[in-house]
Amino acid sequence: MKIISHRGASGYAPENTLAAFELAVKMGSKNFEFDVHLTRDGKLVVHHDYDLKRTAGRELAIAGLNYAELKKVNVGNRFGYPFERVPLLSEALDVLSPAAEWINFELKNDDNVYPGLEKELMKFINARPGIYEKSLFSSLDYGTLKRLRALDKGLKLGYRGQRLKTALLLPAIMRAKAVGAVNFHMNLRLAYKFHVAMLHKAGMRVCVYTVNKREDALKMERIGVDGIFSNYPDILSKAKTEKEVRR
Ligand code: G3P
Ligand code: MG
Repeated sequence: MKIISHRGASGYAPENTLAAFELAVKMGSKNFEFDVHLTRDGKLVVHHDYDLKRTAGRELAIAGLNYAELKKVNVGNRFGYPFERVPLLSEALDVLSPAAEWINFELKNDDNVYPGLEKELMKFINARPGIYEKSLFSSLDYGTLKRLRALDKGLKLGYRGQRLKTALLLPAIMRAKAVGAVNFHMNLRLAYKFHVAMLHKAGMRVCVYTVNKREDALKMERIGVDGIFSNYPDILSKAKTEKEVRR
């Protein structure tokens, strides 16, 4: 089971910053997830939210800022870090890609708030040798997945189930398959063995978010989940207890 650094080592360093990615690499991560946005002047950047309210206490939307303005904002005054900025995607990849075996670009583009994001990202990926092969692209926004698929028939896509329940899993699987998704990303709340089995039967790998407790990580491993998104890259690296070994 892949342990995927969720927004970098975001349990120990400010999420989606170079500090979080550097730390994840130092901790031995090989699998990475982060979120991609576009600034007003067309720069690809890494941040989770569409605005800077939660991370910087500022009522500013990324879509309304040029990168020269955005980079001055401190989004990382936590865990003892004095200043961290929103990184350019290129900077994040400079840090991650030498260590990465698998990279999940999550495009935050609800209602196409960043027109042209998919095209810009694919242009960027195709200009960086060695990245495409180990990349998977996901989004909550179905239109974004469809635009990515229209740009590239061979692209690996991940479908993210939202507000799912058992009765909605089959329609979600059909939507995921319709766009050619190879991965299905689901909330821990819904990660039951029979859901995982259904998704495997449909030919997709299953990655579960966000798994920050060791007991949940061990459970995901037992029920056959392919990957977990975790803020703690070391979630399973501590020695197992005797009880866990005997299970
Ligand atoms: O793709 C799932 C993972 O990224 C968790 O979601 O909200 O942290 O972007 P989020
Ligand atoms: Mg994400």
